[in-house]
Amino acid sequence: MKEKRKIYIFDTTLRDGEQSPGASLTPDEKLKIARQLERLNIDIIEAGFPASSPGEMKAVSMIAENVRKPVICGLSRMIPKDIDACRRALEKAAKKRLHVFLATSQIHREFKLKKDKKEILAMIEREIRSAAKSFKQVEFSPEDASRTERDFLSETVRAAIQAGATSVNIPDTVGYAVPQEFGELIRFLVQKNPGLGKKIALSVHCHNDLGLATANSLAAVLAGANQVECTVNGIGERAGNASLEEIAMTIDTRADFMDCYTDIKLSEITKASRLVSHLTGMVVQPNKAIVGRNAFWHASGIHQDGVLKKRQTYEIMDPKKIGLSGNQLMLGKLSGKHAFGVRVNKLGFRLTAQEMDQAFVQFKALADKKKYIFDEDLEAILQNEIAKIPETWKLVSMKVVSETGTKPCAEIALSYEGKLKKATSTGDGPVDACYKAVEKIVDSKAKLIHYGLQSVTGGKDALGEVLVKLEICGKEVTGRGTSTDIIEASVRAYLFALNKVSANSQRAKGRSCSV
Ligand code: KIV
Ligand code: ZN
Repeated sequence: MKEKRKIYIFDTTLRDGEQSPGASLTPDEKLKIARQLERLNIDIIEAGFPASSPGEMKAVSMIAENVRKPVICGLSRMIPKDIDACRRALEKAAKKRLHVFLATSQIHREFKLKKDKKEILAMIEREIRSAAKSFKQVEFSPEDASRTERDFLSETVRAAIQAGATSVNIPDTVGYAVPQEFGELIRFLVQKNPGLGKKIALSVHCHNDLGLATANSLAAVLAGANQVECTVNGIGERAGNASLEEIAMTIDTRADFMDCYTDIKLSEITKASRLVSHLTGMVVQPNKAIVGRNAFWHASGIHQDGVLKKRQTYEIMDPKKIGLSGNQLMLGKLSGKHAFGVRVNKLGFRLTAQEMDQAFVQFKALADKKKYIFDEDLEAILQNEIAKIPETWKLVSMKVVSETGTKPCAEIALSYEGKLKKATSTGDGPVDACYKAVEKIVDSKAKLIHYGLQSVTGGKDALGEVLVKLEICGKEVTGRGTSTDIIEASVRAYLFALNKVSANSQRAKGRSCSV
């Protein structure tokens, strides 16, 4: 069997990633990320662009001094002043690399650089030859390579190698390439420059303007590239860069198909993703591959049932591999009894079959109102279910009108021993109006001693929990109600307390109280 090739991971989160609009980092924050990249076992960290600002110079120097395992790289235009800034910034690095770039495509030559092909080749030759005297590792990037005439691109690559470049990076600067075409370009360059991808590292750097950065990078790897430039969470200029986690996890997950491996410590991926998101303030989209919040959540009942029977039915990666504790069966309206029962047991509740059926009905009713049911929601349902007391007074309907400048008015309908009873009342607030309407029906003469409201779960559709303490017939009794509607939760809590009194008095076989 053919031995697998190592793919070097060149992380540019701190350079191209930081170019994301609004993602600027302080030198201390950059150092924190660099340390996490070291724990991820990144081969080369592009720490910044030292000539661009004093802050960048400081950040790259700090990383060079403190992060010792990976190669630390600095970016530079093809000009002596930038190369010198990299030299100074990387002075204390244990292993260092200079990354010089120069645009080669016709549009860049003509409109941006105003230089012809000959001048471009001369610059490459001169600056790389000079830089190679003080850097053992020099990487050359022909910017906008994917839109450069192929033969000229190959000439620039040859010139760079002859001048002393130790790696050549082919950027798809504007995310224009498509995978098959980009793979062919890499094959063409390898064929024209033997040794590329072997003695001379052959790297790719893909942008995501068409959403193809990962696909293009992998097509290049299959065509002979042995280094991939990427960023954590795929952040970067405009639509971003190829995402590190997608590259590493594809190579790992499809080891059966890929002829290569990386040395990335996959279990550090989640931590790296969260750290970068936290420090840059760039929120990871929920459906982002590998690191999005939903990447290992199963919502469909059919999928949940499948995953519970055999994880691999709907999961191609083990979430534990990237440092998550496990998958999540996201309970919601599509969930079936299987997933519901498993979660109930996991939460430590032991229900009889009848209790389970009743709780499941309540769960479905809540799921119709609330998109996702979290553990806290379930606990609220289950505690009510377990502490079930007969619903002597049952809420049938409620209507509350609360307008600025007028007293709120509530219309409540309760059922009692099969009969419907209705009342309307105004109050100082909507809850007060409801409680007064309930009292008109029940006439318990309850005194409200305490009222507390808290949100059981987060989010706009959070479940509100109301706890009340009533004094009825000289005794204190508590009630609790939950609902996504806090007024309804308040009424339910009140009725719960009344029903407790009713249950106790019936148990005592005497109606000592009007409830
Ligand atoms: O996208 C690009 O071309 C770059 C170069 C500096 C490599 O970021
Ligand atoms: Zn780039």
